[in-house]
Amino acid sequence: MELQEAINHRHSVRKFQDKPVKREVITKIVQLAQRAPSWVNSQPWQVYCAMDNSLQKIKDAYHKQDTVGNHGQPDLPVMNREKWAAQTQANMKEWRHEIVHHFANFDEAHEEMTNASASLYHSPVILYITIPKASPDWSIFDAGLFAENLMLAATDCGLSTIPTYNSVRFPTILHQILKVPENERFIVGISLGYPTETTINTYRSKRRPVNEILHFN
Ligand SMILES: Cc1cc2nc3c(=O)[nH]c(=O)nc-3n(C[C@H](O)[C@H](O)[C@H](O)COP(=O)(O)O)c2cc1C
Repeated sequence: MELQEAINHRHSVRKFQDKPVKREVITKIVQLAQRAPSWVNSQPWQVYCAMDNSLQKIKDAYHKQDTVGNHGQPDLPVMNREKWAAQTQANMKEWRHEIVHHFANFDEAHEEMTNASASLYHSPVILYITIPKASPDWSIFDAGLFAENLMLAATDCGLSTIPTYNSVRFPTILHQILKVPENERFIVGISLGYPTETTINTYRSKRRPVNEILHFN
């Protein structure tokens, strides 16, 4: 697949097939992601692959937390929507409006989105990206570059992805099940797998016109 095709083809999938992903493919994708640039080549990332038993344990533990109404406490704090800059708030509002209207009605949208989130998208694999707690903000930037590389490499291998905050809401659970050292923090979880052919997966998010974000001087 050409790079431009992969960039345009990648989109977030929120319902995966119950079909495993081969370890060799996961290894290849992560190895390609490692080509990402980083501050003085510090390569701050680690990747923890949750699948089979470990992923089921995570899903069960998250479900338990959701049942008691615990929203979680991710290592990267979530900022109240009203505090975001006006344009970013407007973009998020537009996204929410668009995805809801992609479904037949509001109830279906609500149900599908809630189920997707509660089931961790039926992901057969989640790749958890961590960085050391002893890191500058630049390492978060580096982890983002690594994550996008990973998702594009996955696209090139015929796989679908979604990066989620949802999957890193309970770091204590993740440290325990994935045996992640306490001196690392979770940046994001990337679900990986084969998509189902459902409404939730056919939505394509929009972008601002390029002249609104590109400034020549
Ligand atoms: C850091 C990050 C966290 C995200 N967390 C979630 C999430 O918890 N749940 C979700 O449904 N989508 C999540 N997304 C996916 C975004 O909603 C999605 O990337 C955005 O709407 C653009 O759509 P696209 O990925 O299909 O291009 C997240 C994306 C990023 C980059």
